[in-house]
Formats: sequence, C-alpha cells, structure tokens
Amino acid sequence: MIKKVGIIGAGTMGAGIAQVAATAGCSVKLYDTKTEALAKSEKDLNKILNRLVEKERIDSEEKQRIQDNIQYVNTLKELKDSQLTIEAIVENLEIKKNVFSTLEKFVSDECIIASNTSSLSIASIASALEKPERCIGIHFFNPAPLMKLVEVIPAIQTADETLNISVKTIKDWGKTVAVAKDTPGFIVNRVARPFYGEALRIYEEGIASFSEIDKAMKEIGGFRMGPFELMDFIGNDVNYTVTETVFNAFYFDPRYKPSFTQKRFAEAGYLGRKSGKGYYDYSEEGKMSVR
Ligand code: NAI
Repeated sequence: MIKKVGIIGAGTMGAGIAQVAATAGCSVKLYDTKTEALAKSEKDLNKILNRLVEKERIDSEEKQRIQDNIQYVNTLKELKDSQLTIEAIVENLEIKKNVFSTLEKFVSDECIIASNTSSLSIASIASALEKPERCIGIHFFNPAPLMKLVEVIPAIQTADETLNISVKTIKDWGKTVAVAKDTPGFIVNRVARPFYGEALRIYEEGIASFSEIDKAMKEIGGFRMGPFELMDFIGNDVNYTVTETVFNAFYFDPRYKPSFTQKRFAEAGYLGRKSGKGYYDYSEEGKMSVR
C-alpha cells in the first residue's frame, strides 16, 4: 500500500497530481527547483479547495486534511522516504534522465520511480536508473484532479510488480486506468495529434480564424473545448514539444508534422492561459477573449 508519495515538478501537472494523492490520503512531498513554483502551487491549491468548500463538495476539515498532507520541499533529497515518486518536470529526455539518476541515490530500492511524460520513451528514461525495473510511465491528463483517465505505461524493463502496484495505487486514487505500450504519445496523445495539427493547418491555409475553428468544433463537433482553446489550456510550449517528439519518434511521419505557427507562439512566450496570452487573451482574471 503506497502511503508516501514524492512529486517532482510543481507546475500544472505536478500540483494537480499532488492534490489527487493528498486527497486520497497519501502523505505527499512536492518538490520543485523554483521556490516561486512551490508558492504558486500552494496558493492555487488553497483557491481550488476554497471553491470546493463553497460548493459544499468538501468541508473545511477535509480542506485542512488535504493541505496538511502536502509538504512543499526544495531539495530532491527530501523525497528519500517516498514509496512512489512521480516526475512532472519539463518534457526533455536528458533533463528527466539526470533527475532520475540523482533521485535513485536517495530513495530505497523498493521505491517506484514514475514519469508523467506525454511522449518520451519510458525505456529511455528507465535506462538512466541502476534498477530500471522500478520505472514506469504514469500519465495523468490536465487538470489531473478532474480527469478520470490515467494511462499506465510499462517499459520493456518494467517489473510486473511495479506495474501491478502502480495500477492498484492509481485505481485507489479514484482514477480509471488504461495500460498502454511504450510507444510515442501512448493512446490519447497520439489520437489527439491530428486534432491540433489539422486545426493549425486550417488556420495557416487562411480557411478560418482560431475562434471560428474552435466555434465549429464545439458547436458541430460537440467538443467541450476547441483545439486552440485546448492548446492554450495545455500550454503551447508543452503541446509543441509533444508534437515534435511524436513526429521525430515516428520517423518524420507527415501525419504528425509540427506547425510553425505554434512554434512561433511558444518562442514568443504566448503559451496560453499560464502566460496570460496565447491564441486568446487571458489578461483579465477568469476571462478568455479573442485577441
Ligand atoms: P509546467 O511547465 O507547468 O511545470 C514544470 C515544473 O517543473 C516547473 O514548475 C519547473 O520549475 C519544474 N522543473 C523543471 N525542471 C526541474 C527539475 N530539474 N527539477 C525539479 N523541478 C523542475 O509543465 P507541465 O505542463 O506540468 O508538464 C510537466 C510534464 O507533464 C511534462 O513531461 C509534460 O509533457 C507532462 N504532461 C503535461 C500535460 C499538460 O496538459 N500540460 C498533460 C499530461 C502530461
């Protein structure tokens, strides 16, 4: 039974996964190199929990219990007594491998070391470890506390025990598990690539504006968010990198070709909601408007 969880990276995903594990009763240590990211995630969690209390989905004791279950730490070493660690840092193989090999020096031999990567090879990440059989992909969706599905991805090195404990833990946290093979984009991110890619190409060909494309997909396609709204929600930097990784990993298959428009948006810092500006403007709190 997993009781002590370490989360690496307190950004969009790490903060959400910490909330999920803390709500399920685990004692969580949330680590980030940036103290401002830790402060932001603590403040955001307080806001989210206050809203849940207002809506009477939880009471103030439950709010306190969830908050008390999370410790915000700024050294990796403090994760040493974790039974499961989930990494949610920048989508870069070399950086992830470095963090994994350092982490392995601190934790016990039984600790499961998981990555929330959207598109990188779990086999490659696992190769950074002395004990690669303890490595696995545990891929949450954004926002982690609301999205039911979690993909669990064993690498070829992963032990059955690691897979079984991971699946059981994620189910205990109230999620639905889909086990997928270690291939680029796994299930959901592979199916989703053409959704973003074709929308960007339609815009680049001058067929329609961002908001017209989104409107069409929401009104006719029945999607809750249009592709541009969704890319702004995910973050254009993260979404672009995932597309690029999937494109490269499938030997430059044109089905997954990344878009220059999105690349320029990411380079300009028009990341979406998290930077206040993307395909839409988010400068007024809680409001999305066409730029
Ligand atoms: P983010 O940019 O919001 O947060 C990343 C955090 O990691 C930042 O706070 C940063 O300071 C921290 N960080 C960077 N390098 C670090 C290091 N070496 N040690 C400790 N902390 C470090 O990124 P986001 O969106 O949370 O993505 C994280 C991971 O989750 C990526 O692998 C991404 O592909 C994956 N993912 C993202 C989803 C999304 O919708 N944004 C959905 C599912 C997976």
